[in-house]
Amino acid sequence: MSRAKLDSIRAAGPAILPSLLQCDFGDLRSEVEQLTAAGARVLHLDVMDGHFVPNLTYGMPIVEGLRRHTNMPLDVHLMISDPMAYAKPMVDAGADLLTFHVEAVQDSVDVAGQIRDLGVGVGVAINPDTDFAKLDDCLDAVDMVLVMSVNAGFGGQSFNPVALDRLKSLKQRKPDLLLEIDGGIKVDTIGAAREAGCDLFVVGSAIFGQHDYETAINELTLAMNGSHPGAGGQT
Ligand code: DX5
Ligand code: ZN
Repeated sequence: MSRAKLDSIRAAGPAILPSLLQCDFGDLRSEVEQLTAAGARVLHLDVMDGHFVPNLTYGMPIVEGLRRHTNMPLDVHLMISDPMAYAKPMVDAGADLLTFHVEAVQDSVDVAGQIRDLGVGVGVAINPDTDFAKLDDCLDAVDMVLVMSVNAGFGGQSFNPVALDRLKSLKQRKPDLLLEIDGGIKVDTIGAAREAGCDLFVVGSAIFGQHDYETAINELTLAMNGSHPGAGGQT
């Protein structure tokens, strides 16, 4: 493993990252093929433990299975209480960027350092209701901040605009930090997130709720650039 994939994630931005939460888990190979054909360049994997969040998804076997189907960078969002217990197994399974939640750990700088030492990119995520100042300590220790625009745990929730102020503030303070947003990203919210300085846009329902992933990603890309008729931006 190496941090080279982190560079390809950075180079892909601004980019739409399909979140593998509401996809067809009975046919993951086909889902990955469809997403590849639709132009996705990075996949976002939502790992939940039923403890840090009240929902349970999947772990290393799915990450490892996806790794065998694609060369795309795998951006793994750990919504789990003990990220260090699973960080190395996730890297061994094929994760390229590992994001832990600031709410889950005592010492975010230490956790970020340990993940970095595994040879992958490291991100820190923050929920909308968490004190934003909790991020201050670790901003120099991470490659990416994942600003949650819903409470972690479920797809299909409404966008919380507190995320926009947070993105703007982070962009101002640390212009080189990779910024990602997750939750409620659709054609009518993605443009504002881009204007706020975001690089990576995690999307669940607005892709997997559509029959045609390519059209969905194209419309989101237009809206991200402020040129989708439904986005309220300039054409
Ligand atoms: C929420 C997950 C998201 C989710 C986004 O806990 O981290 O990745 O799948 O889904 P939508 O786009 O439906 O809000
Ligand atoms: Zn996520």
